[in-house]
Amino acid sequence: MNSVLLATSRDWPAGEPGHETLDKALIARGIDARWAVWDDASVDWVGADLVAVRSTWDYMTRSEEFLAWVHSVEATTTVLNGADVFQWNLDKGYLARLGDVPVVPTRLVVSAAELEATVAEFGDVVVKPRVGAGGIGVTVVRRGNAIALPDAPVLAQPLVTTIHTDGETSVFVIGGEAVSMVNKVPGAGEIRVHEQFGGRTTEVAMSGPESVLALEALRAAAEFTGRPLDYGRVDLLKYDGNWCVSELEVTEPGLYLDVLPANAEVFADLVAARLG
Ligand SMILES: Nc1ncnc2c1ncn2[C@@H]1O[C@H](COP(=O)(O)OP(=O)(O)O)[C@@H](O)[C@H]1O
Ligand SMILES: [Mg+2]
Repeated sequence: MNSVLLATSRDWPAGEPGHETLDKALIARGIDARWAVWDDASVDWVGADLVAVRSTWDYMTRSEEFLAWVHSVEATTTVLNGADVFQWNLDKGYLARLGDVPVVPTRLVVSAAELEATVAEFGDVVVKPRVGAGGIGVTVVRRGNAIALPDAPVLAQPLVTTIHTDGETSVFVIGGEAVSMVNKVPGAGEIRVHEQFGGRTTEVAMSGPESVLALEALRAAAEFTGRPLDYGRVDLLKYDGNWCVSELEVTEPGLYLDVLPANAEVFADLVAARLG
């Protein structure tokens, strides 16, 4: 029996939300899979046939350590997507260079003057850490308000106001196909769609333009990372009437298994295929 380790974090020792459906789908394919905490020194990563990085959501402040861990695992074991892809994806600076793919305009600001210039260009802007997740550190800078630049490297984008009407749409691309889609809306007084900030996520039917754009985004990423991607979640916002990529999550995108249990089947198929 093949052995698979699903990398998680201390906060989610049993696995990501809705993990039971993925556990069952893997068992149904005869795969011996177990969740393991990525920074638990007692885990035998070398002994696994395949490692899938999943809910390792605590590495943001320890990205060097995380990348070193993935590289070491990859020396002996297949890691889905893999260390080079993660390294490329860790810094949201990739948004400023995604080829021809429409992306929410993204400026890598390094000084208060550059941030001011971005506010002059776009009006209200969103400032966020280049390395970050879970909406942490995402702030809105209104035109006319004082501008203080955080210490960490940041990027600035126009505040896409359709976040309050259309919300954010996420397309899951797994095994080369766009397989499912959710819509996420923020709670009152927020722009962040994450549940911990009052956001709500619902399944929506797959739609052509969004899935085409998501596939394009993954293809562009493959050009930059030098390898085709096993999985990814592409977050889209409607800006100026057009869908644009706001984030490309190819390291540890939550699969929203509680909302989209069917993602478990497709992800299990991917694991089975990569085990050969
Ligand atoms: N330019 C923007 N305009 C409007 N809302 C935004 C913008 N950028 C981010 N947001 C909101 O903030 C959330 C978090 O930003 P995101 O770039 O996805 O970072 P994270 O990696 O922390 O999820 C998004 O899901 C969205 O709800
Ligand atoms: Mg996000």
